Amino acid sequence: MGGMSVPSQPSPTPDSTPPTRHSFLASFALVLTTLPLASWGLCVSGTLDPDSRAAGSIWIGACVFSLLGALLGLINAIRLRPRNGERIEGRGMSWWALALGLLSPVVSFFLGIATVNFHMAHGRALRRGGRAQLPPPGSDMGWVEDLRTRLDVPPGVAAAWRAQAGMEAASVAAFAHLSNELLALGAPAHLIEKAHWDALDEIRHARLCYGLATAMDGQAQGPAPFPAAVLTRDRRLDVASLAAECMVESCLLEAASARVAGVLSSRSEGPAEIRAVLDIIAVDEARHAAHGWEIISWCREVAGTAIDAELRRALSRVDVASAQAAVEHDELAAWGIAGPTLWRQCIAETLADALARLGEAPEHSLAA
Ligand SMILES: [Fe+2]
Ligand SMILES: [Fe+2]
Repeated sequence: MGGMSVPSQPSPTPDSTPPTRHSFLASFALVLTTLPLASWGLCVSGTLDPDSRAAGSIWIGACVFSLLGALLGLINAIRLRPRNGERIEGRGMSWWALALGLLSPVVSFFLGIATVNFHMAHGRALRRGGRAQLPPPGSDMGWVEDLRTRLDVPPGVAAAWRAQAGMEAASVAAFAHLSNELLALGAPAHLIEKAHWDALDEIRHARLCYGLATAMDGQAQGPAPFPAAVLTRDRRLDVASLAAECMVESCLLEAASARVAGVLSSRSEGPAEIRAVLDIIAVDEARHAAHGWEIISWCREVAGTAIDAELRRALSRVDVASAQAAVEHDELAAWGIAGPTLWRQCIAETLADALARLGEAPEHSLAA
C-alpha cells in the first residue's frame, strides 16, 4: 500500500461556519418561542375551541417547543462566542430566544386565564370556532326581572346566576340563527315557529336569572349590547350539518340542562325563588330538546338515515370529561348552581340516552 496518499480533508472549524447558518438557527429558535402565544391567539380569535382537548394538547405542545427554542438559543449563544474581537451574526437573537422561550409559556398561560372564556355554555349556544359567544356585562335593566325580594346567599352565588343569565341571553341569538337556517333549508313552518317560541323562552330565562342575581347582590346589572349575535355562523349550510349541530346543541346540551335544573331543584335548600326558576328552566329546556329531535327527524326525512353516522360522530366528539360548569366546584348546588360533577354526570347520561335513541329506531321517526 506504500506510495498511495489519501488527500486529507480540511477539518471544519467553528470559524469556518458561515454566519448565515447561525442566524438561521437563532431565527428558528425565536419562531419556536412564539408558539404558545400563537395558540393563545387561536383561542381568542375563535379559530380554536378553548374548551376542546385539542386546544389543551396544542398549548402543551407549543410550550414544549418554546422550551426547546430556549435551549436552542442557549446552545447557539454559547457556540457563537466571539473570538479575536470578530462580530458574529445571530448571538443577540439567541439570547432573546432563551429569554422568550422561558417567558412565553408563562405569559400565554396568564393571558389565557385573563382573556379566554373556557366555560362550556349550557343549552343551545351561539358559537364561533366552537367557542360560545356571550353578551358582555352591562346595565340594560330591561333584561332584569324585578323579583321584589332580597335573597341572602353565600358569596359567589349572585355572580354565578348572572353568568347563567348571560348564557340564556346568548341562547336567544342561537335560536334566531336556528330559525333562519331552517327557513333557508325549506323546513316546515311548525319547526320554524317552535324555534321562535324557544327563543322567547330563553328571553324569559335570561330575565329570571338576571333578576335572581340582582335580588341576591342588589347590583343593577344586565347585558350590554351583544354584537356577536349577528355574526354569521362558521359552518356549512346544509341539512346534514344542521342535523349534526342540532344533535349536540339541542338533543344533548338542552336535554342535559333540563336534567341539571331538575336535579338542582330537587336538592335546593335555598330560597323558594331559586327553586321556582329552576323548575321553569327544567320544563322549558326539556321541550327545547324535544324540538331538537323533531328537527333531526325532519333532517332524516330529507337527507335519509345515511346522516345517522354523522350524528353519531357529532356525539362521539363531545368530550364529557372536560365539560366545564359555570363554577369549578360543587359547593353551590344547594343554591341552584351546578358544579362540574353534576354537569358532567348529566351530559354523560344524556349522551347515552341520545346514542340509544339513535340506535334503537334507525328507520323510524326520532321525534317523541
Ligand atoms: Fe334556557
Ligand atoms: Fe334552551
